[in-house]
Amino acid sequence: MIQEFNRIEKVNGELSLPGDKSISHRAVIFSAMADGVSEITNLSDGEDVNSTISFLELVGTEIERVGRSAKIRGSGFKNFKRPISPLNAGNSGTTARLLSGLFAAQNFNSVIIGDDSLSKRPMDRVIHPLKLMGAEIETTSSGTLPLKIFPAEKLIPIDYQLPVASAQVKSAVLIAALHCDEITCVTDKYQTRDHTERMLNLRTALSGKEKAIYSSRENYPLPKSYFVPSDISTASFFIVLTLLLKNSELKLNNVCLNETRTGILKVLKEMGGDIEIQNEKESNGELFGDIIVRSSKLKNVVIENEIIPNIIDEIPILSVAGLFAEGMFKIESAKELRKKESDRIKSLCYNYRLLGVIVDESPDSFSISGEIKNHSPSFESFDDHRIAMAFSVLSMLLKEGGKINKFECVSISNPNFISQLKRIVR
Ligand code: S3P
Repeated sequence: MIQEFNRIEKVNGELSLPGDKSISHRAVIFSAMADGVSEITNLSDGEDVNSTISFLELVGTEIERVGRSAKIRGSGFKNFKRPISPLNAGNSGTTARLLSGLFAAQNFNSVIIGDDSLSKRPMDRVIHPLKLMGAEIETTSSGTLPLKIFPAEKLIPIDYQLPVASAQVKSAVLIAALHCDEITCVTDKYQTRDHTERMLNLRTALSGKEKAIYSSRENYPLPKSYFVPSDISTASFFIVLTLLLKNSELKLNNVCLNETRTGILKVLKEMGGDIEIQNEKESNGELFGDIIVRSSKLKNVVIENEIIPNIIDEIPILSVAGLFAEGMFKIESAKELRKKESDRIKSLCYNYRLLGVIVDESPDSFSISGEIKNHSPSFESFDDHRIAMAFSVLSMLLKEGGKINKFECVSISNPNFISQLKRIVR
């Protein structure tokens, strides 16, 4: 489906966005593991979280869902039902990777499959540490889906230093470790998102910037009530739109403010963004609060390599802010961007070239600068929700608007993106 966007002049108002995708996946998974009934409010309504839900329903999890709330009856320790068909993770890397950790520890065979995009993404990064724990898993020769998981004799604890900045790899190991009596230690030097350790209340120890996280059966989840704060990655599209329009102000309620996720706010504030936080609260170890954003004049700044893991999902929309900011926008040391729902360096550079701006691309970096020459482009989403939403925002700022091809992929994280926009455009 092609979606057209006209130029808009101003936004104003307030939005309560659906729950954070990363926290929602984990709330559903931990509820399914727990022995009893858990309740989740403000659950993400995106397709990715639906993939986790339908995957777990195939192994016996009972889920009652009404709007953004869910009641989940979990199976208890190693008590899932053997699936009679392959488990489909759809487009969702978090589903495939976190659940490979969970299913490596069960007493039955299972097969994890995914859509075309997910079937190209690397799974060897999770399979390697799980095999060190004694898991029996087969992938294709290129280390991709389908994964064939066989019951392991017994999983053994490991000491594992994360070789890539990936919260999904970290979480897969920590989840598998919940099935061992002895303690597994994962060391994360990248400060990747820490929802798994927070939500499972795992013990952690900091040494400089390196964090050791400990997980064992003692930490196996119990039934709980979860409130999922709104998704800061989803909020970022609205934040950048507001900053770049004149005479605009927007309030985003109850947004996740976990410090491993707020890199986007830090960079936008350094760029001159008028962003204020009010009403900070905490639930299940996760900080959240209201974000007030106002029109601002932005200038590009040096984006340090260290912050890349904390803004990895927001780089597409951050680059839109960078395009309209004074000076050149540049991202470096970000090769992980090529391993997302699309090769995001390639997708971004392709679309920016359509505008006639100066684009420089390398294996792990890209930059954009110069004047926009084409004011009514037709962008490609590359079936990547964050590319589709980033270029929707950009289109609304162009003199003659723009079009997004294959726009329907926005439903992966935010199926109501258009109706939310309609509520705030003035
Ligand atoms: C996620 C981790 C990140 C992120 C993804 C969600 C998670 O992926 O890009 O959208 O929920 O753990 P990586 O672990 O591949 O960096």
